[in-house]
Amino acid sequence: MTIVKATPETIHDAAAILRDGGLVAFPTETVYGLGGDATNGRAVAAIFAAKGRPSFNPLIVHVADAGAASRLAHLTPLARRLAAAFWPGPLSLVLVKQPDCPIADLATAGLDTIAVRVPAHPIARALLQAADLPIAGPSANRSGHVSPTTAQHVDADLGDKVALILDGGATPVGLESTVVDATGGTPVILRPGGVTRADIARVAGGRVEIAGGEETSRPASPGMLARHYAPATRIRLDARGAVPGEALLAFGAQVPHHAGPMVNLSPGGDLVEAAANLFSALRTLDAAGATAIAVMPIPDTGLGEAINDRLRRAARNL
Ligand code: TXA
Ligand code: MG
Repeated sequence: MTIVKATPETIHDAAAILRDGGLVAFPTETVYGLGGDATNGRAVAAIFAAKGRPSFNPLIVHVADAGAASRLAHLTPLARRLAAAFWPGPLSLVLVKQPDCPIADLATAGLDTIAVRVPAHPIARALLQAADLPIAGPSANRSGHVSPTTAQHVDADLGDKVALILDGGATPVGLESTVVDATGGTPVILRPGGVTRADIARVAGGRVEIAGGEETSRPASPGMLARHYAPATRIRLDARGAVPGEALLAFGAQVPHHAGPMVNLSPGGDLVEAAANLFSALRTLDAAGATAIAVMPIPDTGLGEAINDRLRRAARNL
């Protein structure tokens, strides 16, 4: 069993493993990350191997603060405004690497840009401080699988591949960070996530673009690959209800009667609560042996945009 409760001692142990080039899983406010020393090519290679991730898919690098970010990447005026508003928090900024950026090329998949994030979760922050390293941290799931929001999810996917899983309970946001290209003057959302489009527009003076091109083999944000975040069971979107044999992923107070497996993302219709419950619910229903998971409609506003993005990807056929 590699799961340990996060305490000052186990965080210290995890930091020592990272400095030695090993891998540890740790909670962030969004999802659990699979952490390795971002400056160590072997550690980064071990992350790709553990996840079974296509090597062109670059990783997010976690740092303690905007000062540490500016040593890795050039912070444009837009990046500084977004960082001031949302760091620490669920926002990753894609920026041009500094000429002397110490990050392993493999972590950025050979790109001249890097995605950096300052996480808000106290355990992630303590780990960054103890390790005193930039930590490469993709979501701690097998590539293409649902992101983990508990230590048990990590154990189920990667338990035999990681030296230690720091258990900090369920992650509060439950969706990955919003990935924003801030290399220019207008923010471009590469992946919707924990910070909403409206929040970003507000800080950027109303301007914000959304990246498309998800079907290309080398997309601007490889996390935008069409099928991603997927359970094994077929997903049926915009369902009014579930037929016998199906599982029901419900939302809101008006839920049709269903005798089979069901999870309600938020009986009160709260999108923040629904986001926090989404990946756990998909894992639970995926394990129910249903013919399909019928998903009730979820409003496409606020965090609903990121929730629907993940559900659409999960629904693509293999
Ligand atoms: O919430 C999160 O972001 C979590 C936690 C652990 O921090 N991490 C996470 O990392 O979701 P990952 O590796 O699963 O997703 C990274 C996303 C991918 O969509 C990737 O394509 C994109 O960031 N990305 C990374 N570097 C990029 C770059 N230089 N240019 C464009 N997109 C980039
Ligand atoms: Mg991921």
